[in-house]
Amino acid sequence: MTNPGNDSKKSPLKEYAILVLLILIGSPIAWYLGTRDGKELAKNAYDAAAPAAAAAPAEAPETEDEDTAAAAPASTPESVTRGAALFQANCVACHGTAADGKGPAAVAFTPLPRNFTDPAAKWTHGRAPEQIFTTVTKGVEGTGMAGFAASLTDDQRWDLAHYIGSLPGVVKAKGAP
Ligand code: HEC
Repeated sequence: MTNPGNDSKKSPLKEYAILVLLILIGSPIAWYLGTRDGKELAKNAYDAAAPAAAAAPAEAPETEDEDTAAAAPASTPESVTRGAALFQANCVACHGTAADGKGPAAVAFTPLPRNFTDPAAKWTHGRAPEQIFTTVTKGVEGTGMAGFAASLTDDQRWDLAHYIGSLPGVVKAKGAP
């Protein structure tokens, strides 16, 4: 007497038992292999990174280029052209596209942004290239004029100094502070 119902009832149970057994035996093996590979991967990664870390100096020496006016590069037509583009990109909100100090945000500031086209304008930090460079680098404390040391490179700030130095407010104001 065969009872097919009995067989089909038994078989899934057996399969289930085998599956459980496989999982019980398999997971520690999988875990072991996984950690072993992970440790090896980590070791390889550290080994690869170690020489690079050893070669890199612990801390880069601080350079304070912005304070050394001796590094002033000469003004060239190319530098002035680059400075003009940088000026349009960074300064016109306050100083105006015409560099006349009449940018859309100018009214928000007391004192007003400097007018670089006016030889009679009073400057607080001087019109020499080194002085303009320092102003653009450090800003003018207590005014809307921020320092651009973090957002522009030394070369870019020199280009700006040379561009502003090419405007009437500087060229025609020789001898003025
Ligand atoms: C948020 C507004 C604002 C922006 C943007 C701005 N400036 Fe000014 N700037 C001012 C104000 C306000 C003054 C006037 C400060 C004072 O009277 O001392 C000023 C003054 C100056 C001066 C003259 C400082 C002096 O000795 O009298 C220079 C040079 C100058 N800015 C350059 C720049 C350059 C270059 C940029 C762009 C990279 C720039 N500024 C962007 C507001 C701004």
